[in-house]
Amino acid sequence: MIIALNNKCNLNKEEYLDYMNRLNEINTTHHLILCPSTLHLGITHLKEASLGSQNVSCFDNGAYTGEVSTDQLKSYGVEYSIIGHSERRQYQRETNEEIHEKLKQLLKNNIIPILCIGESLEERKNNQVFSILKEELEVALKDLTPLEQEKVIIAYEPIWSIGTGIIPSIEEIEEVFQFIKNMVPNSKVLYGGSAHEENIDSLKQCLLIDGYLLGGLSLKIDKLEIFLKKVN
Ligand code: 13P
Repeated sequence: MIIALNNKCNLNKEEYLDYMNRLNEINTTHHLILCPSTLHLGITHLKEASLGSQNVSCFDNGAYTGEVSTDQLKSYGVEYSIIGHSERRQYQRETNEEIHEKLKQLLKNNIIPILCIGESLEERKNNQVFSILKEELEVALKDLTPLEQEKVIIAYEPIWSIGTGIIPSIEEIEEVFQFIKNMVPNSKVLYGGSAHEENIDSLKQCLLIDGYLLGGLSLKIDKLEIFLKKVN
């Protein structure tokens, strides 16, 4: 399984070095993808895990203050990049169009996108789940060949589940995953949102899940180890 670790904006330098050493001691057959703060990419040395970024610029190197390019990321060994996270959609006002530009830039430069999609609680209550997901996928993946689409890892993260401790029912996850897999055949689809060591036994009943995108749990090495042992 793919287990992507989204550290978000956490850990100072000292804390991160300690965290990374502990992560390197974990023994697992799962494919770990560590996505630390951009600031920590250059001090990261991983034994088994792959390296991912939490964001990327849609531009090449140039006069784009504060941005991080694919060329820079690649020079630090970054192979994956999270794009379209709901926190960036919310706080940085990222649009589906911008996410599409970033996705194209990543594929052009051989970095695998981890495209986050998901509905808010209000959208779920208004029965808009599938129209929201359809639009997020259609715009982000437009003009891509089927082969390019297959390279994109999709992370379904219901916004109401992120950091809340609440997870959707298995039936709800199954119908969304089936929908995504019908829209984007052969893609890997991760689940994200309050996944942890205590609900993994329930989550893993959904056989369509190809892996997880972990936020809070990514920071708790002891609990992460338990999670990794329990995941199929
Ligand atoms: P939590 O696991 O903390 O709910 O966060 C999920 C997430 O946003 C991962 O990208």
